[in-house]
Amino acid sequence: MKLCVALDLPSRNENLVLVRELSGLDVWLKVGLRSFLRDGAGILSELKGLGGFKIFLDLKLHDIPNTMADAAEVIAALDVDMITLHASAGERAMCEVMSRLNALSKRPLVLAVSALTSFKADEFSAVYNDSVENAVRKFSLSAHRAGLDGMVCSVFESALIKDVTSDEFLTLTPGIRPFGESTNDQSRVASLDDAKSAKSDFIVVGRPIYKAQNPREITQKILAQI
Ligand code: C5P
Repeated sequence: MKLCVALDLPSRNENLVLVRELSGLDVWLKVGLRSFLRDGAGILSELKGLGGFKIFLDLKLHDIPNTMADAAEVIAALDVDMITLHASAGERAMCEVMSRLNALSKRPLVLAVSALTSFKADEFSAVYNDSVENAVRKFSLSAHRAGLDGMVCSVFESALIKDVTSDEFLTLTPGIRPFGESTNDQSRVASLDDAKSAKSDFIVVGRPIYKAQNPREITQKILAQI
């Protein structure tokens, strides 16, 4: 299991200070929309230069197939290691993205977002008119058929996804509270042990690390446990 640290701090400098503290540790860095829009693509090479970290660029693409595939090609040229798109954009969009990326000499891992972990059951059905479980099953099968590498999901769906697709189909699970920290705005949170037994391939941890007194120490504790 790999640990992705979410760089969700309010400024570029605060993110860089955090990453310097993590130098030498075996973690992936998750760059989200805020940092990417604010700091520009240059932040990615700067982050890599700070210690050979793998970069997970989490932009959650969602558009018509051709526009998504165009964007995916541009993102792949940034030499990132993992990207995301919304499975609810549909199977045709996912296939188009994969066919363009597979034509490249090197491509990032591509994961599909099923249900955002902030959704409560009633909020989810108000948008998707379905239960989280059904929708996750449907989205995962569709992403698997389209040739993606895996899904972003809550820990509680990881085992189900592997059951309906394959054990090799990756799951990346945010909403982790390693040592019982506050849930913040996440509705479905889980511990490290939950993530392990659900066979998560990647866990994403943000606030429990960057809001800690000593981010390096808590990161090392998490790495030791996983
Ligand atoms: O601070 P926390 O550990 O809750 O951060 C979780 C990170 O994972 C955030 O960057 C959030 O955007 C992201 N994420 C999520 N749920 C998803 C996909 C991504 O919480 N389904």
